[in-house]
Amino acid sequence: MKDPRQEAAVPAPIDRLPWVGTTIFTVMSALATQHRAINLGQGFPDFDCDPALQQAVADAMRAGHNQYAAMPGVLPLRERIAAKTAALYGHRYDVEREVTVTAGATQAIMAAVVALCGPGDEVIVLEPCYDSYQPSIDLAGATAVRVPLDAARNYAVDWDRVRAAITPKTRLLMVNFPHNPTGQVLEAADLAALESIVQGTGIIVLSDEVYEHIVFDGREHQGIARSPLLASRSVLVSSFGKTFHATGWKVGYACAPAALSAMIRKVHQFMVFSVSTPMQHALAAYLDDPRPWRELPAFYQRKRDRFCAALAGSRFRLLPSNGTYFVLADYSAISGDAEDVFARQLVERHGVAAIPVSAFYREPFDNRVVGGGGAGGGRTRAVEGGGGGGGW
Ligand SMILES: Cc1ncc(COP(=O)(O)O)c(C=O)c1O
Repeated sequence: MKDPRQEAAVPAPIDRLPWVGTTIFTVMSALATQHRAINLGQGFPDFDCDPALQQAVADAMRAGHNQYAAMPGVLPLRERIAAKTAALYGHRYDVEREVTVTAGATQAIMAAVVALCGPGDEVIVLEPCYDSYQPSIDLAGATAVRVPLDAARNYAVDWDRVRAAITPKTRLLMVNFPHNPTGQVLEAADLAALESIVQGTGIIVLSDEVYEHIVFDGREHQGIARSPLLASRSVLVSSFGKTFHATGWKVGYACAPAALSAMIRKVHQFMVFSVSTPMQHALAAYLDDPRPWRELPAFYQRKRDRFCAALAGSRFRLLPSNGTYFVLADYSAISGDAEDVFARQLVERHGVAAIPVSAFYREPFDNRVVGGGGAGGGRTRAVEGGGGGGGW
């Protein structure tokens, strides 16, 4: 007789992402809970989104917007996205063919990378980078070419290194500004450098701009839609999660020239088909008022300033953060320990969870720098509670 346990044996799966384990965010959040720590290592606010936005969802549901949305997104939302992008950055995407609503920026990135790259293609990523980029490239069967940001120049892009990394196989160049986790933003000169690198090549740019509205000190976000040349060969990805304090809604979008959007939509269609209908209608209605995103820079800048002021007397050397939720802190005056060791000590002994920046690199890299979930609510609580730095 057959052993029933054998019959029930699970066939050995093929591991498409063999290097992926538990992310540092999960590890640090678990430690933060265990040690009742202030969690600066999370990528979301700990305050709620606008009740008016929540009401708009209820209104949309009551109005009967509860069945599948159109595959590229509901028309009113695509119209608002196109209008907002045109008003802010000057490039008008075609609502019918060039704007696709996705399940957050993460799905837009995955759909774009899988649609636009394949085996034999190289994809340039700037490290440190958001953790979904590498898996997207791996699942597409393409090869990541990692170019480090210049840690000695506060993580600015070294465009000469980017240029040097380009080969005839380069298919995609992925950028993310304002940048997670360094808080760096692009200047107009950076856009010009990017233009000169891709002009006359077949390279597509994927620009992850989820923090487009979290830019400080009077700066203006330098997105790729400001450049006609870049807009004509780029996928612009953004998300309402960061802009409207609603990361759990997972609604984002990809804007790209029609030929690229057509390919992205083919993948999107069979990845999720469409995104939550009432959420889309609610966001469309809420986007009629520009104040929520126009007020965002000042809102987060106050939090950044408060956080940085509280740490000013400590031995942490704070790196300038020009945007995003995040602030990096150099702790080399405090400890010679590696970033993951230091981050663990920080949470276990001092009740503050931060993220080692080394976690944003594929290969080992250690700069004695940890990142705090910067301008999120956790940061404010850290300041109010006198935590984060007082003991150093
Ligand atoms: C740089 C960057 N890109 C994309 C995302 C994901 O955005 P979404 O939640 O809309 O998928 C995040 C979230 O933290 C991010 O920091």
